[in-house]
Amino acid sequence: MPKDVIIALDYPDREAALAFLDQFGEEKPFVKIGMELFYAAGPDMVREIKDRGHKIFLDLKIHDIPNTAAGAVRSLRALGAAMMNLHAQGGIAMMRAAAQELLDTPGTAPQLIAVTVLTSLNEDALHDELLVQKTLKETVLHYAHNAKAAGLAGIVCSPLEAGVVHQRLGADFLTVTPGVRFADAEAGDQQRVTTPGIARELGADYIVVGRPITKAENPLLAYRRCMDEFVG
Ligand code: C5P
Repeated sequence: MPKDVIIALDYPDREAALAFLDQFGEEKPFVKIGMELFYAAGPDMVREIKDRGHKIFLDLKIHDIPNTAAGAVRSLRALGAAMMNLHAQGGIAMMRAAAQELLDTPGTAPQLIAVTVLTSLNEDALHDELLVQKTLKETVLHYAHNAKAAGLAGIVCSPLEAGVVHQRLGADFLTVTPGVRFADAEAGDQQRVTTPGIARELGADYIVVGRPITKAENPLLAYRRCMDEFVG
């Protein structure tokens, strides 16, 4: 199974993102472009970073009616990202329409994965704010089943859930896991967190790491530490 560290490029503009990447020299980490950078710098940012030799996870968390979600996927696929995502909460029909869209268009398709429950939410928020009465684990597993039924390649979840997701949905079903912190650091706004080493033991395929690398005094060293702990 793949094992890689994906750096969350949560920067406000093109210059800041490129200045960050310049620190990596010839090293070309797998990077995630999310809403902050995409909304500020647009599709050209994706092309430019890809042209620099990076694999890209386009984290735009699509969530809309099936027809619109499929249209969004159609518009984005030409950018050449290796991975894209949508919200499992959009339902099976929405996920299926998006997955079908990728099958219908020729060329190498990105891996399409579903966000289950955001790693910033805990069980209290799930019950009290979103009125989901199942446990967090049951909810994540149920959304994972829905994603698989819709033909998706995997899910985004906490590393803490990666083991059980693989047990129930198979070793090939990808687990991409944010909510990673070094053992000696603060969790910030994330709730369901663990370290790169434990994420590896739990069987996560990819870890998505933002602030522990982007805000580190030496991002390259922090990235290498993540790679060492997670990939070995
Ligand atoms: O800075 P930090 O390591 O918390 O960054 C985590 C990244 O993963 C952020 O870009 C966030 O948008 C993303 N993410 C997440 N939880 C999800 C899906 C994506 O934290 N369920």
